[in-house]
Amino acid sequence: MTDHMPDIATPAGRDLRAYTDELRPRHRVIENDAGYWVLLRHADVVAAALDDVTFSSDVSRFLQVPNGLDGDEHTRFRRIVDRYLTRTALEPFVPVFERIAAELVAALPRGKPVDAVSEIGAVFAVRAQCAWLGWPADLEPRLLSWMEANHAATRSGDLERTAEVAGQFDAIIRSVLAPRLADPDAAPDDVTTRLCRETVDGRALTEAETVSILRNWTGGDLGSIALCVGVLIAHVTKEPAIAQRLRSASDAETDAIIDEILRLDDPFVSNRRITTCPVRIGGKDLPANARVKLHWTSANRDEAVFGDGFAPEANAAANLVYGIGRHVCPGRLLATWQLRIALRAILDAVDSLAFAPGKDPEREVSPVGGYRRVPIVLR
Ligand code: HEM
Repeated sequence: MTDHMPDIATPAGRDLRAYTDELRPRHRVIENDAGYWVLLRHADVVAAALDDVTFSSDVSRFLQVPNGLDGDEHTRFRRIVDRYLTRTALEPFVPVFERIAAELVAALPRGKPVDAVSEIGAVFAVRAQCAWLGWPADLEPRLLSWMEANHAATRSGDLERTAEVAGQFDAIIRSVLAPRLADPDAAPDDVTTRLCRETVDGRALTEAETVSILRNWTGGDLGSIALCVGVLIAHVTKEPAIAQRLRSASDAETDAIIDEILRLDDPFVSNRRITTCPVRIGGKDLPANARVKLHWTSANRDEAVFGDGFAPEANAAANLVYGIGRHVCPGRLLATWQLRIALRAILDAVDSLAFAPGKDPEREVSPVGGYRRVPIVLR
């Protein structure tokens, strides 16, 4: 075994879970072919996420609010983001998400193959996020084809292609902002308009800052929700006993089961950091400015912490699906509610779920996690 893993910014064609399960017992950190130091174990990922002075998030040449910011600057912007994602702010959207999920599931064909990722997860994510942000429903086809192009660019590892796709997304966001900025008095009272009116340090947010926040709430998260729905549906299709348990579970029990399924198969694979000084990990010396990946998918399966069983309650405290530390996911409640609502809508609408005959679920290609396709039949 070498100390190198294929560049996880290029398709490795392997299930990341099996691959990192193989590496993790022998290696705390691996230097991959793209020059990233990949942290594989739970303790190291947690320590790096909590030490945000040594492990800076200032990793991109693009403005990333708040995820690319450090220290006090991060705190100031994070305060703005957090206001939109509290229980009180999100509660009014629950019935909206429930209606969206019920209508989507009602319109799905019965007895024929349906892809749980592109036809359920992605469509639900786009509709729910548009409803939350106050974006027009007719953006749906553009957002769906953007998600597809974004995954394809990420898989390709081609940075120019990724930048081009990011540019296309900014154009979508600017098209939503333009009418609100042109005539603020006529702007609808929704999350996007309210965000446009936010201030930081006594000044208005710049357009670039607003675009960056919205990109963060949509660009990454639409894909994450879609992939999570795919993982959840694949799991409950494979494990009818868990589907049965979910049918009578309370909200809290449902959320714990969802988190545990995602811990075992976390499609939100990794986040980047850059070291601000030399640091020693697992006998390896990482210099200052070393590029590091916190590998959530691997850390979440660390046998030293979790054992190998399915144990929602016992494993909840150490679960890293939504990260830890300063940058811990502010959208956790929104994601948790959306995932619970989507999964319940499916389970409520059918007697049974089965994989489509002759069409096995297909894993995504590294560095994207989860499944690319989960063909199921609803009965
Ligand atoms: C199932 C879906 C989701 C998963 C698995 C997920 C996971 C994560 C993780 C692991 C981080 C930590 C990043 C780091 O440490 O660098 C993060 C950060 C973040 N997430 Fe989520 N997320 C999800 C959905 C959402 C949603 C729906 C939103 C909001 C609409 C959201 C907004 C953010 C933001 C803004 C950050 C950056 C926070 C900061 O830098 O302070 N996420 N997410």
